[in-house]
Amino acid sequence: MNDVATVCRAVDRVPGMFYLPEYFKPREYLPVLEKLLATSPLRHMETSRGFKMSAAMSNCGALGWISDRKGYRYETVDPLTGNAWPAIPEQLSSLAADAAKTAGYANFNPDVCLINCYEPGAGMSAHRDSDEADYDHPIVSLSLGLPARFFVLGNERKGRSVPLDLASGDVVVWGGESRLFYHGIRPLKAGEDVVFGARRFNLTFRKAG
Ligand code: SIN
Ligand code: FE2
Repeated sequence: MNDVATVCRAVDRVPGMFYLPEYFKPREYLPVLEKLLATSPLRHMETSRGFKMSAAMSNCGALGWISDRKGYRYETVDPLTGNAWPAIPEQLSSLAADAAKTAGYANFNPDVCLINCYEPGAGMSAHRDSDEADYDHPIVSLSLGLPARFFVLGNERKGRSVPLDLASGDVVVWGGESRLFYHGIRPLKAGEDVVFGARRFNLTFRKAG
């Protein structure tokens, strides 16, 4: 898949988290993403308190993560279309499984891929990915488009954060001790990516069911 040697770096002060820079060629995934989003379009979901999230979202997989006035959860049906979420394309599930394996998490078999789309100014406040049934599985995160600053806290939503600058083609994998660590995305800076335009896509693969 890669014509350069794969780098997989343990992230300082975040046990179980690995950074894989330039792990994949983002351009190859634009048509894949466009096809998915033609089936289940991006939308700004609402929190239980009625706030619109600044990142637009969609999903592919047997399950999809949603937020609305009733809270956060996984659903088999896209509430926007009334249909099942599109399946995770093989190209994406194998990329996620390969990255997990490289980071030391063998046999990762995701059933969810949450698609986040950020425009300049959008971000994601500190949260943890805790709606999954079993925390033994890692989270695999792919970045495409504009760069962003990812930050990681610990098991509490406070303290000094560890910054990680993510560029298009980078992957982050976390599990084990850091599986439930708080993390988020700082508001995106303005810019233009040659492939994705003034946007950043993030795909997070999870095993939720
Ligand atoms: C997330 O935590 O779900 C998104 C992370 C990212 O956009 O890199
Ligand atoms: Fe997250």
